[in-house]
Amino acid sequence: MEFKIIKSDHPMPDAQREALLENPAFGVNFTDHQVIIEWTREDGWKNARVEPYGPIMMDPSSAVLHYGQEIFEGIKAYRHQDGSIHTFRPESNGARMQKSAHRMALPELPIDVFVESLRALISVDGAWVPKPVNEKTLYFRPFEIAAENFLGVRAAHRAEYRVIASPVGPYFTGGLKPVSIWIALDSARAGRYGTGEAKTGGNYAASLLAQGEGYENGCSQVLFLDAETHTYIEELGGMNVFFVYKDGHVVTPSLDGTILRGITRDSIIQLLKDRNIKVEERAVTLDEIREGYNSGEIIEVFACGTAAVITPVGQFKSKEGSIGPENPEPGALTASLREELTGIQYGLIEDRHNWLVKLS
Ligand SMILES: Cc1ncc(COP(=O)(O)O)c(C=O)c1O
Repeated sequence: MEFKIIKSDHPMPDAQREALLENPAFGVNFTDHQVIIEWTREDGWKNARVEPYGPIMMDPSSAVLHYGQEIFEGIKAYRHQDGSIHTFRPESNGARMQKSAHRMALPELPIDVFVESLRALISVDGAWVPKPVNEKTLYFRPFEIAAENFLGVRAAHRAEYRVIASPVGPYFTGGLKPVSIWIALDSARAGRYGTGEAKTGGNYAASLLAQGEGYENGCSQVLFLDAETHTYIEELGGMNVFFVYKDGHVVTPSLDGTILRGITRDSIIQLLKDRNIKVEERAVTLDEIREGYNSGEIIEVFACGTAAVITPVGQFKSKEGSIGPENPEPGALTASLREELTGIQYGLIEDRHNWLVKLS
């Protein structure tokens, strides 16, 4: 698919952009351009273009505003020491976006077009990818919305895919300092046969009440349990979770259709296998974690996702009390996995699984 390029006539001046790239906050500033591809039921995907960044003109009856037909992705561009720009496993994000689209009755964008859309944006906004220091990257936010004006519950006949991008620093500003996690005991994020596996806005809206409770209790993320029995650990509001046991093996909740298939999660499982560390993907109860922490069987917990990479977890808190030490040192495995993964992403460690794709 050819992307028409319409350049902004008022891009941010170089000096202003460079100043902003010194210390970018997460998801606050956006580059000069955006990608747009339209879809109609009659014609399929069409009018691929890169346009100046700007507001979406939307009719108040636009379907996405009423029925929440919306999906998104999160993926980063990394600048290497030689100035080249790479992204990480974009085909996996493209494939996940197709699965999300299928679940939410939206059209599936071909994976190669997904990858090309990132390249097209970088072709005009490459200068927005920060220098490779302090974990700075350019965060892409590809998303797709129902864009038909109608009130009525059915899949829209018109949709739009867009990509915007934001230069970002670390998601958690405390560096490798362990974060505390709030356990949601009164709400669930996703139920069986629901939309938990899709990256759709509604799942995140459903997590915000508990997230607010977490903030009030000094926690930066929320842990969700399974909706049916409230017994099994699922994932955090925006990250997957791993537990490291004293004998060296590692456990993470299995993908049962209610949690997001994290690409970082999948990469970590591969890196652990490369090290001959046993990884179990299985059901994990909250009781197992409580007992494991108390007995000393569980020695490290970490969360992972594109935004925060790998983050050590300290205490789990809930209205029923807390689990684990308040301010533990970051675990050795957590720290070394983080170093290996970011090393691959920034081109400092050999990319033996061919995860990187060059964008420029
Ligand atoms: C709910 C949820 N779980 C897990 C993840 C981690 O996924 P990934 O590693 O692909 O970023 C994310 C972030 O995208 C998320 O939003």
